[in-house]
Amino acid sequence: MTQHKKPRLSYFRNSLGQRHISDEDKYIYAPRETQHKLGIIGTGTIGQEHMRVATLLGRAEVHGIFDESAKSLDVAVDGFSRYASHEPARYPSLEAACEDPATDALMICTPNYTHIDVIEVAARSGKAIFLEKPMATTLADASRIVELAEQHASFIQVGLQYRYKAPYVEARHEALERCTLGELCTLSMSEYRPPFLDKVGQWNKYARYSGGTLVEKCCHYFDLLNLFAGSTPIRVFASGGQAVNFLDFEKDGERADIDDHAFVVIDYANGLRANFTLNMFAPHFYEELVVTGQRGRLVASETFDFHNDDVARSKLDVELGEYGASRSTTLGYPAEIEQSGHHGATYFEHEAFIDQLEGKAVDSATPLQGLWSIVVAAAAQRSTETGDAVDIGRFLEEHALDGLLA
Ligand SMILES: NC(=O)c1ccc[n+]([C@@H]2O[C@H](COP(=O)([O-])OP(=O)(O)OC[C@H]3O[C@@H](n4cnc5c(N)ncnc54)[C@H](O)[C@@H]3O)[C@@H](O)[C@H]2O)c1
Repeated sequence: MTQHKKPRLSYFRNSLGQRHISDEDKYIYAPRETQHKLGIIGTGTIGQEHMRVATLLGRAEVHGIFDESAKSLDVAVDGFSRYASHEPARYPSLEAACEDPATDALMICTPNYTHIDVIEVAARSGKAIFLEKPMATTLADASRIVELAEQHASFIQVGLQYRYKAPYVEARHEALERCTLGELCTLSMSEYRPPFLDKVGQWNKYARYSGGTLVEKCCHYFDLLNLFAGSTPIRVFASGGQAVNFLDFEKDGERADIDDHAFVVIDYANGLRANFTLNMFAPHFYEELVVTGQRGRLVASETFDFHNDDVARSKLDVELGEYGASRSTTLGYPAEIEQSGHHGATYFEHEAFIDQLEGKAVDSATPLQGLWSIVVAAAAQRSTETGDAVDIGRFLEEHALDGLLA
C-alpha cells in the first residue's frame, strides 16, 4: 500500500489524546514519507505559504530557500521552525538555488517583474518549475515563458490556484462535467475585497512591477472565465481606475498608479459572453461566479470576513427550475487545509504539482493558459486606457502573437 492510499487524518496527528502513541505504532497519522525535495525562490508572503502547505501535504520536503532579502529569509526560517523538524538550507545565490542536485523541483515566488529573469536561470536546471502568477508583467515575457516551457525537459506549472477553491471546483464539476446547466451562455464573475497588502519594496503599487491590477490580481479570474468559456476571447472592453486606494501613496517621490476598481466585458469565439467586476475598497472578501446555461444557473460564492471569522464561507447554488432538482450546498475543506492558505486552494495546487512531478495527469494551469489569462488582462488594461473595445485578433498581431489563434 502506498502512503497516498492511507486515510488522511492529520487532525489526530496533533491531538492531545494521541500523544501516547509511539512512532512505531503510528500508521494512519504517521507523517508521510516525503518523495521530493523543493527549492523555494522568494520567501515573502506566498513563498512562506508554499513552505507551510508543502509541509502540511507532506509529499515534498522544503530542502532549501533563496531570497534577496535577509529579513525575508530570517522570518521564513523562524516560521518554518514552528511546524517543521529540520532547517532548510539557505542558498547564497539564485544559481546555487537552481543547481542544487538535492532538489527535484523549484518554486518561484518572487515579485511579478522578476519572474522572467528568475525563470530563465531556473529553466537551465531542467527541473520541474512552479511559477507564481501572473507568469509575467508583459505579453512578450509571458510568451517567452511559454517558449521556455516548450523546450523544457520537465514541466512548468503556473500558480493560478483559484481553480482549486472549493466553489469553483464544484462549479466546474456541475457546469462542465455533469453539464447540468446545458449549453453555457453567460458568465458573471466578481471580486470585492480590501486593498492590496504591503509588499517587500511595495512592488504591487506600481504597474511597471506588477503588470497593473488587472494582470496582477485578476489573472486568476480571467483564467477561470477562460476555463468555463472553453473558447478563445475575441473582444474585450473595460472601464476602471483608481478611486480610493493609495491615492496618497508615494515611494521615492513616485505616486502609486494601480487601479482599484474595474468592469470588464469579454466576448468569446463560441458566442459566450462574460463580465468581471473588481472592487478593492470593500471591507472584506467576497467572490462570486454566476454561470447561466440554457437549462439553469449556478452561483458559486466565497465570503471571507476576516474581521469576524477565521475561515471562508463557501456555497454553491444550482437552480434548474423545471429541468431538475435545484439545491444549495455549503462547501468547505477541512479546517487545517482551509487555513493553510487561500482557503485550501494552495494545498490542492501542491497536490497537483506533486502529481505532475510523478507523471500523473492534472488540471493545473499550464504556461499557455497563464498566457491567455494575461492576454485578457492586458487587453482589459488597454481598454481602460483608450476607452475602446480591444479586438483580440488585432491585439495579438500587434504583439506578434497571432500564432496563438492558430
Ligand atoms: N497565487 C496567489 O494567490 C498569490 C498570492 C500572493 C502572491 N502571489 C504572487 O507571488 C509572488 C510574490 O508575492 P508575495 O506576496 O510573496 O510578495 P512579497 O513582497 O511578500 O515577497 C516577495 C519576496 O521575493 C523576494 N525577491 C524579490 N526579488 C527577488 C529575486 N530576484 N530573487 C529572490 N528573491 C527575490 C523579496 O525579497 C521578497 O521576500 C508575486 O508574483 C505575486 O503575484 C500569488
